[in-house]
Amino acid sequence: MPPSKKDATLLFVCGQCGFESRKWLGRCPDCGAWDSLGEERKAAPIRLGRAPAIAQPLSAADEEECVRLVTGIGEMDRVLGGGIVPGSLVLIGGDPGIGKSTLILQLLASLAAKALKVLYVTGEESVRQIRMRAGRLAIADEAIFVSTENCVEAIVDLAGEMRPALLAVDSIQTVYSEEVGSAPGSVTQVREATARLLTLAKSSHLPILLVGHVTKDGAIAGPRVLEHMVDTVLYFEGDRGQVFRILRTVKNRFGSTNEIGVFEMQESGLAGVDNPSALFLAERPVNVPGSVVLPSVEGTRPILVEVQALVSRSSLGTARRTAIGADPQRLALLTAVLEKKMGVTLFDHDIFLNIAGGIRIIEPALDLGVVAALLSSFFEKPIDPATVVCGEVGLAGEIRAVGQMEMRLREAGRLGFTTFLMPESSARQLRGKSGAGMRILAVRSVSELAEHLFRS
Ligand code: TYD
Ligand code: MG
Repeated sequence: MPPSKKDATLLFVCGQCGFESRKWLGRCPDCGAWDSLGEERKAAPIRLGRAPAIAQPLSAADEEECVRLVTGIGEMDRVLGGGIVPGSLVLIGGDPGIGKSTLILQLLASLAAKALKVLYVTGEESVRQIRMRAGRLAIADEAIFVSTENCVEAIVDLAGEMRPALLAVDSIQTVYSEEVGSAPGSVTQVREATARLLTLAKSSHLPILLVGHVTKDGAIAGPRVLEHMVDTVLYFEGDRGQVFRILRTVKNRFGSTNEIGVFEMQESGLAGVDNPSALFLAERPVNVPGSVVLPSVEGTRPILVEVQALVSRSSLGTARRTAIGADPQRLALLTAVLEKKMGVTLFDHDIFLNIAGGIRIIEPALDLGVVAALLSSFFEKPIDPATVVCGEVGLAGEIRAVGQMEMRLREAGRLGFTTFLMPESSARQLRGKSGAGMRILAVRSVSELAEHLFRS
């Protein structure tokens, strides 16, 4: 039914991406999510009382903003680019139960321990529940103030009165503005509440942390609809069955993106992991086909991960292709390259690819690891456990250079690996530099890779 004139403010908004439509649709045409459009009223524009616009020379802008608030949680400071910039809005997204509230509470405690007054606004849990969690984390600090207020106008007033060093709002989906008619959690409400907190942050130099749940349900807006409004977006990810948690920068106006922090969820909260390579390789099977180690670089940090593949004859008409922690499209492409260039028959084989430990690798350097693991599983031949591989694979089966090879080489050497298969140009550059007895082998094509791997 087309909306009547009276209903000109009625809109259907996608809870995943914020796409707006005048009529309801079963599937969002923008992001492709099913059943994600919810009914909302168009928000009245925010009126903030306009001051005359001013312009000033860039050099006159004060640089006070550059003094960051160091949180004291090392992995968190790393992803933020050295701490929280005053007046910035940081969004922490993640699946429910991944550990966002735990991280926030530990961060607040760390600041409180430096005698800073911090304000924790939560609409998710009662003060008693937070007290219980604090007990579990062995946090008992007078300087952490907790409020269960849900109304953003009241939160802004409270923060204005208290003047904390940091405000954390857990979660933005529980906060509403009095001036918007839509239900709490709707795209309109979540955006409106964020806009008000943004004004507060910028006008009073107060850093604000927002927690946003990743949602599957269309009735509640996900954190993605806020990404363009905030300064920094961090995603807390990991497999809930595993203890590792990765804090990943997706956007950062004040630092590099693609930086990651690695945590381990323990009985008494989250602990930063200083040596993630050792952790991700801890349970690696040795001399088993289908497993190979890849020196990956995330942001400025090298991490060795284990790439696992299982290639087995399919009993079904169409073979299965599953990639966990890697891009399924990339797997399809590499499978096609192997069929064409190596003549291996894979169309009637199921292929499962997994990056061990629940970490996700998106860099192209993963290609050579995937190809090596696939070949190893297909031929039932284990790869030498002291060998690492790294490089991008092109459509012609050629191995292409990737960046930061020196860093990868150092990390592999540090963890006791002795052979490194890499693209030819990188090998040429690094041969002189390789200390500590690392054997560097250049590979130009996937067939050369197979020769090197399975020579014996
Ligand atoms: P939580 O921070 O509540 O997740 P979120 O806010 O992202 O929904 O963490 C939930 C999980 O973390 C819960 O399943 C229990 C676990 N956990 C621990 O393993 N150790 C701890 O010390 C704490 C506080 C939680
Ligand atoms: Mg929570």
